[in-house]
Amino acid sequence: MAFNSLFITFEGIDGCGKSTQLLKAKRFFTENGYDVVETREPGGSMIGRHLRALLLEEGAKIQRSEVLLFMLDRSEHVRQVIEPALQQGKVVLCDRYIDSTLAYQHDFSFELLDTLNQFATGGLKPDLTFYFDLPLETAISRRRSRPESDKIESRPHSYMENVLARYTKVCLREPQRIKVIPAHHPIEEVTKMMEVHLRGSIASSP
Ligand code: TMP
Repeated sequence: MAFNSLFITFEGIDGCGKSTQLLKAKRFFTENGYDVVETREPGGSMIGRHLRALLLEEGAKIQRSEVLLFMLDRSEHVRQVIEPALQQGKVVLCDRYIDSTLAYQHDFSFELLDTLNQFATGGLKPDLTFYFDLPLETAISRRRSRPESDKIESRPHSYMENVLARYTKVCLREPQRIKVIPAHHPIEEVTKMMEVHLRGSIASSP
């Protein structure tokens, strides 16, 4: 990819603070003179906005269809938004990406989901991923003060426990890329922990 481009993704369960930290990262890069693109999955492309409504408001009834809809969203997003921005030397900050599928669509094997992710993205992996690690109970109590959860996030407690267990395995598979940030601390402390890695990513970019 072009000079100075960076692709960073933000992962974790709803309520973990990833979207807040994405905005902090955006400020960090902007203040350091970088051109930043902020995006998300599902819903980062034109087609993706329709898919987001379909997946999160209506909900897919068939699990395989759900996986394929996330892949369709990802394929469009990579080609229409992420790759063009990286080719222009921008920093792309993306709320959720391949690791969300590995965690949330946990009824399917890593092997299958890796193959589908590879197909959808053409092999584009983030330079850096943050996983904001938060116990389920804390996430639930944080969410009580917020509007209604989406169709996926409002699944039973046991489903969300499996999502967390899967995220733990995902982090262990690629410790170099995925930085685990304990997210139960106050926002400013979480930002400081994240910024250590952001500074590192600037220092090591070409
Ligand atoms: P969010 O954008 O508000 O975080 O919500 C996105 C929802 O979609 C969240 O419940 C997680 C879910 N999701 C998956 O199940 N699989 C995926 O691959 C992605 C990107 C999101």
